[in-house]
Amino acid sequence: VRALIFGGTGMVGRALAAEARRRGWPALALSRQQADITAPQEVAFWLRAFAPHVVFNCAALTAVDRCEEQRERAFRVHGEAVGELATAAASAGARLVHLSTDYVFDGTASRPYREGDSTAPLSVYGASKLVGEQHALESPGSLVVRTSWVFGPGGGNFVATMVRLMREGRVPLRVVDDQRGGPTFAPFLATALCDLARAGVTGVVHYRNREPVTWFGLATEIAALWDARVEVLPVSTAEQPRPARRPAFSILDVARFEEITRRRVEPWGWGLGPYLESLRRAGHAEAH
Ligand SMILES: NC(=O)c1ccc[n+]([C@@H]2O[C@H](COP(=O)([O-])OP(=O)(O)OC[C@H]3O[C@@H](n4cnc5c(N)ncnc54)[C@H](OP(=O)(O)O)[C@@H]3O)[C@@H](O)[C@H]2O)c1
Repeated sequence: VRALIFGGTGMVGRALAAEARRRGWPALALSRQQADITAPQEVAFWLRAFAPHVVFNCAALTAVDRCEEQRERAFRVHGEAVGELATAAASAGARLVHLSTDYVFDGTASRPYREGDSTAPLSVYGASKLVGEQHALESPGSLVVRTSWVFGPGGGNFVATMVRLMREGRVPLRVVDDQRGGPTFAPFLATALCDLARAGVTGVVHYRNREPVTWFGLATEIAALWDARVEVLPVSTAEQPRPARRPAFSILDVARFEEITRRRVEPWGWGLGPYLESLRRAGHAEAH
């Protein structure tokens, strides 16, 4: 499977390139400098030059709060450009696998969100990602994978932020306890994406790790593994207002994924321990 990856130097893009190569797939992961998805001629160049079977789109503006003030840019990158990419990939004979987010939902559900449930984004990030999903699905053969709360090497993420705060001595950690979701380890997501691409799955699929938790719950686990002396205090979203609204409940139902792949999604804890160890080693290396 020849795999071309846009947004290839972000957290998910890197994990995906590593997983594809581990499988012996020829994989080309492109940075924004090499291929800006809002520049159709750059996209066309790489599609011609590499002739991929599958195009993974991991390019996005993942600073959710910043998207509120960069509305036009967010809709350009997450919306319009995805439509152009989908059309270009289809005419090059490649299938598009596009990444999307739990933030397309408003979080008022009382059970995990299924792929067909109504969307109602609360933020510019979520609304623009939803437009991209719709554009992606206009090209037959496309797959949209919604995921949530991704952490791992190669990008900014919640776990890295908690570690930074603990290193800087900014403790106790105060973390919101009224937003519940599914943390996802980037390398597990990469495996899932490759499995789905290989199986030729189309439409929308949800993927996250198990079990769902609040940010406070996740931070408690991070602190316990990093430095058991660190105290973590629960706060409410109202106490820590942010520019972009987040869903209070954004648990993705992963039954479709589990049915397709005939395996359960991994526990996020399997990724958290090794990732924290890698951050600890990197910190030691820096200190010497
Ligand atoms: N991180 C999460 O928690 C999370 C949760 C749900 C869904 N997702 C989705 O997962 C996908 C991958 O996210 P990630 O976590 O890997 O984010 P990331 O680490 O921020 O990586 C995103 C990459 O996209 C690149 N990019 C931005 N604008 C671009 C453009 N116009 N053309 C080409 N590349 C561009 C960025 O490059 P620069 O850094 O050079 O700008 C960056 O390398 C995204 O679709 C995101 O919406 C992520």
